Amino acid sequence: MGGLHDVQMPAGPQAAVLFELWIAMLVVCVVVFLAVMAALAAGIWRASPATDTTAPDLASHPRIESRLRRVIGCALAASTVLLFALLVASFMSDRAIARLPLSDAVHIDLIGHQFWWEARYEPTDPTLIFTAANELHVPVGRPVLLTLRSDDVIHSFWVPSLHGKKDLIPGRESTFAFRADRAGMYRGQCAEFCGYQHAHMTLYVIAEEPAQYDEWVRHQRQSAVVPTTDEQRRGRDLVVEETCGMCHAIAGTMAQGRRAPDLTHVASRLTLGAGIVANNDDTRTDWIANPQKIKPGVNMPPHALPREDLAAISAYLGALR
Ligand code: CUA
Repeated sequence: MGGLHDVQMPAGPQAAVLFELWIAMLVVCVVVFLAVMAALAAGIWRASPATDTTAPDLASHPRIESRLRRVIGCALAASTVLLFALLVASFMSDRAIARLPLSDAVHIDLIGHQFWWEARYEPTDPTLIFTAANELHVPVGRPVLLTLRSDDVIHSFWVPSLHGKKDLIPGRESTFAFRADRAGMYRGQCAEFCGYQHAHMTLYVIAEEPAQYDEWVRHQRQSAVVPTTDEQRRGRDLVVEETCGMCHAIAGTMAQGRRAPDLTHVASRLTLGAGIVANNDDTRTDWIANPQKIKPGVNMPPHALPREDLAAISAYLGALR
């Protein structure tokens, strides 16, 4: 899988275009800023009291006036040319970004929820569809076509290493395509204020070599593993009997809720609560007992269950790789 990729470095063709545009704008702005500061320093130096007291009103002298007009005219022309050049560069970048070929694209429905991400892979084919949450596995070198939707309020998809931002708007569908050219893990973040836990709405894009990606897909399509220990079996029964299944789905069990993240392979995920804590036995137990303590404002309610029951549910979920 590799480590977390530097957010500022592009890892796909579109992010590379945006990076070049950003560098061009930075260079132009730095040059303009330095020129303006130099002009300001020259002006202050010339208008200093020592020279002012002895000099007559220079600006009204015809020769100086025509020189001033020339300087201001040149500055105006330079500003217009530079701004126009940046406009053209921005337009060309936009065109370049839209040119990604999508013939063999992986299709994913990405749905924003307060405060997590739902990813439905190959949503148009009932035999291939499966659902993941908060982690987007993608194959290296192959385009990914996202259909963006929101379940509640406006969210914004943003993985800086791969592309710019795009909003997920309730009642409206939009598409967004990107390609990761290097294997690795890329951090994404909801970029539109969406409520109390907006800052904790992380999405990891994990770009893998095609064979590894295919293996991941094959695994995700399978039903949840059958529990092997007594504790895990008790955990499964509790999940089905308690209220868990009203919101969460676990393929192959009676739990078929669609309001919250699919838990069929929850143990294979790196984090809980869309990036807020690492995913392990202790954090799972704490999360089930009282998610409000870890992520206040999240939609999942606390569960006042005996400690053994919480541990059993955590053990079962921990087996769902
Ligand atoms: Cu979702 Cu901010």
